[in-house]
Amino acid sequence: MTVTPAAPPQSVTVRVPAKVNVQLAVGGRRPDGFHDLANVFFAVALGDEVTATPADTLRITVSGPDADQVPLDGSNLAARAARLLAHRHGRTPDVHLHIAKDIPVAGGMAGGSADAAAALVACDALWGTATPLDVLLDLAAELGSDVPFALLGGAALGRGRGEILEPLPVGADVHWVFAVADGGLSTPAVFRECDRLRDEAGTGSDTDAVPDPQPDPALLDALAAGDTAALAAALTNDLQAAALSLRPALADTLRAGADGGALGSLVSGSGPTCAFLAKDAESAAAVADALAASGTCRAVRVTHGPVPGAHITAVVR
Ligand code: C5P
Repeated sequence: MTVTPAAPPQSVTVRVPAKVNVQLAVGGRRPDGFHDLANVFFAVALGDEVTATPADTLRITVSGPDADQVPLDGSNLAARAARLLAHRHGRTPDVHLHIAKDIPVAGGMAGGSADAAAALVACDALWGTATPLDVLLDLAAELGSDVPFALLGGAALGRGRGEILEPLPVGADVHWVFAVADGGLSTPAVFRECDRLRDEAGTGSDTDAVPDPQPDPALLDALAAGDTAALAAALTNDLQAAALSLRPALADTLRAGADGGALGSLVSGSGPTCAFLAKDAESAAAVADALAASGTCRAVRVTHGPVPGAHITAVVR
């Protein structure tokens, strides 16, 4: 029997989730400028889609409400991902990547990192390069601290600068509401503000002065047990004070969600998106209504998690 090899794909589409950090413990500033973290990532059903098709040269297009805020030049993280994977396999990055953008831009939900992870998976399938997962994870870590988690999805503890991952069990589907702010916050600026606040408080901001960040056992137990109330009580983000210092109005958003009945609330990553944990779908809808009525945010999104990392949803041959 002769087996005809499958024709190379004409396009590959990958779906990739946004993340919220249910714990973000930030250590001191390292000599390389990064901060060691104990970072509990949680992937939510709000996501982007990246479609890769053959092209003469590397090209990026973006659609969606925030499309005009996404850089289309070589600094785009998805473009860098395509170049890195191509280089690894000694080929040219001759691909058109279309990003259907739904994750808030510069929102603290790792949208750019998600697109990079999706680009790695989409290009790998389009080019037939069959890159093993451990190599994809290494390439992802080269691209950014949050990119490996976007490949993995689910929930995971991130150590180092966030790129060293240990998958975590989650015992229940969790309902989330996100309040999207007007305009983004720069992640490096928020880390710098965290250091400045520590210096101002007299505690110091480098690795000698700040205790090593550790995961909270109560939070990991709550996640594993699917105990939403205990998870809500354990939510923490060491970058929250810095995000609030740069954007004081976020305190009004956090209050509006709490008043609307959220079990717990925090700034997502480096912000400015605020995340609210709800008891169930009905309560999530009520929190969303309260946030929308408060006028303290640009948009409100209701979602849930955990969900899988970057995965192929369509291949056209
Ligand atoms: O790794 P990534 O490129 O996403 O990081 C963006 C910026 O965020 C870094 O340049 C650094 O300023 C800051 N950062 C940090 N410590 C981390 C992760 C990010 O200081 N663990």
